[in-house]
Amino acid sequence: MKPVRKAVFPVAGLGTRFLPATKAMAKEMLTVVDKPLIQYAVEEAKEAGIEQMIFVTGRGKGALEDHFDISFELEATMRARGKSLQPLESTRFTPGAIVSVRQQEPLGLGHAVWCAREIVGDEPFAVLLPDDLMYGKPGCLRQMVDAYQKVGGNIICVEEVAREKTSSYGIITPGRSEGRLTEVTGLVEKPKPEEAPSTLGVIGRYILQPEIMRVLDNPRKGAGGEIQLTDAMAEVIGQQPFHGVTVDAVRYDCGDKAGFITANLALALDRDDVAPAVRAFIADLR
Ligand code: G1P
Repeated sequence: MKPVRKAVFPVAGLGTRFLPATKAMAKEMLTVVDKPLIQYAVEEAKEAGIEQMIFVTGRGKGALEDHFDISFELEATMRARGKSLQPLESTRFTPGAIVSVRQQEPLGLGHAVWCAREIVGDEPFAVLLPDDLMYGKPGCLRQMVDAYQKVGGNIICVEEVAREKTSSYGIITPGRSEGRLTEVTGLVEKPKPEEAPSTLGVIGRYILQPEIMRVLDNPRKGAGGEIQLTDAMAEVIGQQPFHGVTVDAVRYDCGDKAGFITANLALALDRDDVAPAVRAFIADLR
């Protein structure tokens, strides 16, 4: 079984739900406590053994590349002032460990993943959607890689969602279950509640086999008129093992304002440096 060494981060989205904040700034640079969303996803991938991060970007997303580059001016100034460079350490990667490719048109998540095909090559790869901040130890992708090492094939992260919310998610048709693993026998993107085959929703973490790129070579338009990753995944079911895994992690939907604010609160309360002040503020609210 080939190891999962590469991860694709679709980060070309416009972030219209966060306007005006995201007018001139990438939505993946929105900050939870003191780190941008993209960094949570990149750190999760690194912890899972990913060696190469592939950003699928678009126009106006330069800050994502700059964030993981050396900032000469900043570092020189900090050094001259005797300040520790420790806060920058987690943004350092060797050249080639972070690469980017442009998604020239917003044609959908399936198309975004396909844009990375030449860099992914003929090996399994992960996909991480930074909007889904997964908070757990070990990290979500680490838990998925552990599952992958047992069953191989394709693995997606799944979570129970409210019936009235199925139209916001990819939804699986579940087969046999064993522990945290559930066989996936069908997949549909954003079904209406009355048409959803279950309430097990797909969360933005995937381990996929390279054959999915061949499906995406000849895409069809799906939900919302977009090229959906879910539709391409549905086509490989039956040809390769396909499992959903429920992980031991909390998901914060940072593509949504309330979810984003919840993430900030929850992570702040888990931090020794900021928790006391935030907790005092919350206590005062009552
Ligand atoms: C995407 C996927 C969907 C998945 C979701 C998870 O949708 O298309 O299948 O359930 O991410 O966050 P989006 O949220 O980009 O509309």
